[in-house]
Amino acid sequence: MAKIILTGDRPTGRLHLGHFVGSLRRRVELQESGEFERIFIMIADAQALTDNADNPEKVRQNIIEVALDYLSAGLDPAKSTLFIQSQVAELCELAFYYMNLVTVQRLQRNPTVKAEITLRGFSEQSVEGDTQQRQGIPVGFFTYPISQASDITAFKATTVPAGEDQEPMIEQTREIVHKFNSVYGPTLVEPEILLPDNAACLRLPGTDGKAKMSKSLGNCIYLSDTAEEVKKKVMGMYTDPNHLRVEDPGKVEGNTVFTYLDAFCQPEHFAKYLPEYASLDELKAHYRRGGLGDVKVKRLLIAVLNEILDPIRERRKYYEARIPEVYEILRRGSEVARQTAAATLAEVRAAMKIDYFDDAALIEEQAKAYANKN
Ligand code: TRP
Repeated sequence: MAKIILTGDRPTGRLHLGHFVGSLRRRVELQESGEFERIFIMIADAQALTDNADNPEKVRQNIIEVALDYLSAGLDPAKSTLFIQSQVAELCELAFYYMNLVTVQRLQRNPTVKAEITLRGFSEQSVEGDTQQRQGIPVGFFTYPISQASDITAFKATTVPAGEDQEPMIEQTREIVHKFNSVYGPTLVEPEILLPDNAACLRLPGTDGKAKMSKSLGNCIYLSDTAEEVKKKVMGMYTDPNHLRVEDPGKVEGNTVFTYLDAFCQPEHFAKYLPEYASLDELKAHYRRGGLGDVKVKRLLIAVLNEILDPIRERRKYYEARIPEVYEILRRGSEVARQTAAATLAEVRAAMKIDYFDDAALIEEQAKAYANKN
């Protein structure tokens, strides 16, 4: 069976290093591997609106930010179809049919939805101090896992490269596919999630050591940050609070600078930037023993990050000078996506027996039955 990728991001802000190691870098590798027949990368604006209904301008402005991040990270429109979710109306129709295959109780058990209900201030137990606390859960938000199942199945995706927070969504998609196929006959493809293979990449902490990079916490390093900004952010990064003097033994576990090195550092970086060590393990051993200062380790991280970000910055500059061209890429991608989704939708309608006008046999049979009756 052809291997097909679909994945995407909500356009609610610029993409950061957490997105990069969690999914974006992998997508580019997969794109270059030649292993996939088709690759669809979606800007999930309709999903972003499920919890930003009152802020359409934010979503609108961030389409270009995410598109620039995609292109500068190395997604190539000649190899991957980049498109905007809301421009593929077929996805809504699929979601409407899938809604009949999912119970309210099942949606209520989705752990990501559960966590987000609290996080977004939709419930009474919302984060304290949220003055704009909204009452009640919008139906569109509540049902977005179903919409996500449409996103994935419309393209017959076999593979969804994503972070672990997306696992419940893929699981729910698989259930919908299973249910659909057993009720209406084999039509849809069960997707698999492709998680990052390195623990540090699975969930990259913020620069403050908190569990996750998040715009609202102000602990992100963005793909679009300058070398100067990266330097400042790394210098201010959380390390081991008990490693006060250089000669003190330090802790590597839970030390954000080392977690980032786990995610980004390659063996060849040592020869280039820190030749007195042969590997990250040697560097860690020295830090644990004592006698290695934070600044030296941070300098290495700055060099490594800027080496990775430099080509991304170059491509960003290129595309920033060509904004109309970027929109053209998205427009063409959305057309291609629409054709693909329409083909799947036609199969879905036929399987569900709602393809009345295409079914000559149906009309003929009924005509005959009524002719015999009269
Ligand atoms: N839920 C994803 C996010 O929060 C975005 C998304 C929408 C997505 N549809 C998808 C991801 C389908 C993978 C597959 O970023």
